[in-house]
Amino acid sequence: MTGVTVVDHPLVQHKLTLMRKKETSTASFRRLLREISTLLCYEVTRNLDLTTTRIQTPMMEMESPILEGKKLVFASILRAGNGLLEGMLDLVPAARVAHVGLYRDHDTLEAVEYYFKAPEDLGSRLVIVVDPMLATANSAIMAIDKLKERGARNIRFLCLLAAPEGIERFRAAHPDVSVFTASIDDGLNEKGYIMPGLGDAGDRMYGTK
Ligand code: URA
Repeated sequence: MTGVTVVDHPLVQHKLTLMRKKETSTASFRRLLREISTLLCYEVTRNLDLTTTRIQTPMMEMESPILEGKKLVFASILRAGNGLLEGMLDLVPAARVAHVGLYRDHDTLEAVEYYFKAPEDLGSRLVIVVDPMLATANSAIMAIDKLKERGARNIRFLCLLAAPEGIERFRAAHPDVSVFTASIDDGLNEKGYIMPGLGDAGDRMYGTK
């Protein structure tokens, strides 16, 4: 699928299997999510531009690579997106963080906005939008609409699981945004849940129901 990267690293796939199991505890789920998000962050940032800087090692001077450009922005779609943030911030501690508050109306499955806070000058930064589940894609599409309204131009989307229907809708709405996921599952059930999926990601990470 164009513009979609499935991160098939064995560690990612192993951890994902543990997360899918219904008997996995909240504590284990949260720990695994933090670990897997670090690995996914590694992939989504793989082709960042580098420049060089002159440094002095204990032995001699050298030209050494560093990231070029402004600090990244991680944009979390609340609340489940926050579960991906911690592991990503472990890897890129200087990243800026945006929060987009959306909830899914359980009857219409439409995304409704209740909160938006983002750093200034989104237009000159790479924005990596995170949400564990790309199901109907309503939330992801709307979150990226809002980020684009605020100037974001260079955007990637990172999730744990995606449904084929969600990917299709997402790519139609935002063809310029590439998607990174650990798995493309079979599809959605009648309630908009990903099958076989892992259940409600927010409930599983926070122990709610
Ligand atoms: N959101 C979830 O948490 N799980 C799904 O399966 C779909 C949307």
